[in-house]
Amino acid sequence: MFVERQRQMLNLVLAESALELVQRGIWGAPAVVSDLRRRGKEPGMILLDRSLHHSAMQKLENPEKRGRPDLVHISLLSATGTPLYARGELQVHVHTSQDVILDVARSTRIPKNYLRFRGLMEQALDGKSGGGLVRAYGGTLRDLMTAIGGDPVVGLSSQGKPEELGAFAERLARSRNPVVVVGGFPHGHFSKKTLGVLDELVRIHPDPLEAHVVISRLLYEFEKAIERINR
Ligand SMILES: C[S@@+](CC[C@H](N)C(=O)[O-])C[C@H]1O[C@@H](n2cnc3c(N)ncnc32)[C@H](O)[C@@H]1O
Repeated sequence: MFVERQRQMLNLVLAESALELVQRGIWGAPAVVSDLRRRGKEPGMILLDRSLHHSAMQKLENPEKRGRPDLVHISLLSATGTPLYARGELQVHVHTSQDVILDVARSTRIPKNYLRFRGLMEQALDGKSGGGLVRAYGGTLRDLMTAIGGDPVVGLSSQGKPEELGAFAERLARSRNPVVVVGGFPHGHFSKKTLGVLDELVRIHPDPLEAHVVISRLLYEFEKAIERINR
């Protein structure tokens, strides 16, 4: 597992992310078969995508939280496009709803083109190296937290305790090894299993926001907090 520690490093974890390969149980569903034909791919090697496989997904558990690789893409672009990431002070991890962990190697440039991103994720989830940029392992969120050794591990949620974003970012910047967990899913809230690994749950805005908006706002405030502290 690719985890690094240094002063003022922030770990960002996208948890229960809606990113997975199409599961065997729906390989024969018409929406999946026609997508496989169109792409000339083998079953089990394509990403589950609600915009293409909606009808087939009703058979799955928790369908409302799954099949949104586009959300993961936008969130990763938001995180890896920041000066914090460029300076090597942000480590990004993706945990999926199916308990796979993807480590994004430092200085990786996530493809801006969605089709290229999809190809990279399909390779990584299929056990290929994803060009060495992204590596996938079986593992729970707890496994990832143990590897990072985060202190504190803060989940962000619209159900959390309200905290002013600038003050929250400064608290993180002054912490030993902060980890922020953001949901990588479109609807619903963290599962009990995820809540069990969090030290606290914080709300940064009165309204529910998109994950990529939460990430952009937090990382900007974190950068400003580091500047204030180092001044
Ligand atoms: C699209 S939201 C998931 C929807 C969920 N109904 C919600 O309100 O949190 C994706 C993620 O963004 C983060 N998020 C959304 N709104 C937030 C808020 N007001 N404060 C803190 N985090 C928030 C949470 O981590 C959430 O899991």
